[in-house]
Amino acid sequence: MRIPVGPGRARQAEVYGAGVLGRRPTVPADPAELERRARRAMSRKAWAYVAGGAGSGATIRSNRAAFERRRLVPRMAAGHRERDLSTTLLGQRLPSPLLLAPIGAAGLVARGSDLAVARAAAELGTPYIVSNQGCSPMEDVARAMGDTPWWFQLYWSTDEDLVDSLLQRAEASGAGAVVVTLDTTMLGWRPRDLDLGSLPFSQGIGIAQYTSDPRFRQIVAERVADAPTGRDRDVEVTVGALRSLLSISREHPGSWLANLRSPVPRAAVETFLDIYSNPGLGWDHLATLPGRTRLPVVVKGVLHPDDARRAVDLGAAAVVVSNHGGRQVDGAVASLDALGAVRSAVGTQTAVVLDSGVRSGADVVKALALGADAVALGRPYVYGLALDGQAGVRDVVANVVAELDLTLGLCGVGSVAEVGPELLADAG
Ligand code: GLV
Repeated sequence: MRIPVGPGRARQAEVYGAGVLGRRPTVPADPAELERRARRAMSRKAWAYVAGGAGSGATIRSNRAAFERRRLVPRMAAGHRERDLSTTLLGQRLPSPLLLAPIGAAGLVARGSDLAVARAAAELGTPYIVSNQGCSPMEDVARAMGDTPWWFQLYWSTDEDLVDSLLQRAEASGAGAVVVTLDTTMLGWRPRDLDLGSLPFSQGIGIAQYTSDPRFRQIVAERVADAPTGRDRDVEVTVGALRSLLSISREHPGSWLANLRSPVPRAAVETFLDIYSNPGLGWDHLATLPGRTRLPVVVKGVLHPDDARRAVDLGAAAVVVSNHGGRQVDGAVASLDALGAVRSAVGTQTAVVLDSGVRSGADVVKALALGADAVALGRPYVYGLALDGQAGVRDVVANVVAELDLTLGLCGVGSVAEVGPELLADAG
């Protein structure tokens, strides 16, 4: 519980105090300016991957429009000097209702990305959902989190033994839950990445949970053993191909030079692309989970109330209402617009987390008012990472929590637990 009482005023004092000394924050508080500056700091490929979405970007826009449409109705003279931002999720007391969403391939933005994010999250006691397409093995991220809770995101592989291996590792390294992500059985159609011909995983970026996994390594070894010896296939030699080879060799565990000479790193990339997710994923797969792990199951990527009910019937402890930050289906319903029906469908016993489109503390209040227990923050913390590494992530999260605190106070609300639909002018 490292978020201080009154984090809003404390953060203002910190920033304005530095301003008196002539210092301006490296990480802007204004979400639009944060995005602009991060774009300048990132490579074209990193920007395309992180900021881009499915198709025309309509889902990204509708996520934002759904927040913009809602209006808070502040109440006056409530007499609260301080706010209690704490909440309980899956039986754990958290300092605020904010989680860091899983983001894959953040190594495009900074080396050691996931460890920097984990350390920043740990500084603030903010739980981090560690990406299955992350850039450091979950065991290393777990160490960086210390005693701050973290959850493991699972993409359901076509190899069932790999699913078991990932679950077992998450359990062994102290994950608080497994977050099964249903909406990415295939990658969405992403024009920005397509137009650059850029997929981080084919550069070996974002596959560290796999290259560190014993079952995955076994599959790769079999693939290499089965490949014809000598020149296994014609590979065109271009500058791009050499760059890719260097990147794959650098990202793969072990010595860079040895990796350059070995067929294993390239086979690992090919294997990942073949098996990381299962387009045939069905509810029958999910039904096997309670028998395969002791971890609470969180189902992420739910937008329809019937899917939410189904997840709960199969034993989910929580659902994450998410359209994957608008990255999967163009023209999908905004997560915030789907939240109310999901909350009604699952009742009060199941935790509901809202993900996609969150940019500010005021957004968090709106999501809570519409029935979320907690909110996941995504792209903004990657922008913080791009601008100032671990400190940048910390500042982004601290700013969101500060604004949450001040917004509650200025709305006359004394605690997160008290936020309800009456705070909204339009609860629809
Ligand atoms: C993977 O999860 C992605 O959104 O690229």
